[in-house]
Amino acid sequence: MPSKVITIDGPSASGKGTLAKLLSKQINFDLLDSGALYRAFAFFTNQGLSHEVITKKLSSISFILKHAKVQIVSDNEDITNELRMERIAILASELSSKSLTRKLLLPIQRGYGANSNLVADGRDMGTVVFPDADLKIYLDANIEIRAKRRQLELQKRGQEVNIHDLMTDILERDNKDMRRDISPLRKADDAFTIDSSNLSSEQVLNNAIDEIKKRGLI
Ligand code: DC
Repeated sequence: MPSKVITIDGPSASGKGTLAKLLSKQINFDLLDSGALYRAFAFFTNQGLSHEVITKKLSSISFILKHAKVQIVSDNEDITNELRMERIAILASELSSKSLTRKLLLPIQRGYGANSNLVADGRDMGTVVFPDADLKIYLDANIEIRAKRRQLELQKRGQEVNIHDLMTDILERDNKDMRRDISPLRKADDAFTIDSSNLSSEQVLNNAIDEIKKRGLI
């Protein structure tokens, strides 16, 4: 039986990662955090590795759910914290707008859905990487809520950031993601939209599960 793919796209801090993680756990599908692949690509490029070696490494990354967190493991090494570094995020953003990067990452991402049921989150999962996905979710939320969520997330990590600065940062990122020439962030025509502005993560999960059941995917 062909594997089933559920995609989750949406702007920064809309809750994609949380939904992907909860869904993958609840319905027992594998997880692909494509943003982490872009970050890993930046991380390995920064180490001066060749594209051949990077391709091998990116194809065998594991996204492991542990204590409600996603651990990113490459060659038995946990690289989650390295990929969170600001320097790597900036480089990932820069490299992700290049066609060579996207060309290289396309088959790698598809490989993850080749043999197992998959929940894939990112910016172009439903539009470019998995255009035939069984369900495409577009997750959105208003800017104030997204900035507030990001602020809470950073506070948990001991960082205090001004909410207005965060809003500016997020809008700038949205702009960049939506206006780039290659694979811009956009809602797929056949996407199922969830606006998470006034919903808890539990409610977002339940909305997604209802739709998954309606389509007979579980
Ligand atoms: O979601 P994130 O912040 O971990 O993503 C890291 C970078 O990769 C970010 O600049 C957006 C980019 N990205 C992308 O261009 N396409 C994707 N499918 C996922 C992420």
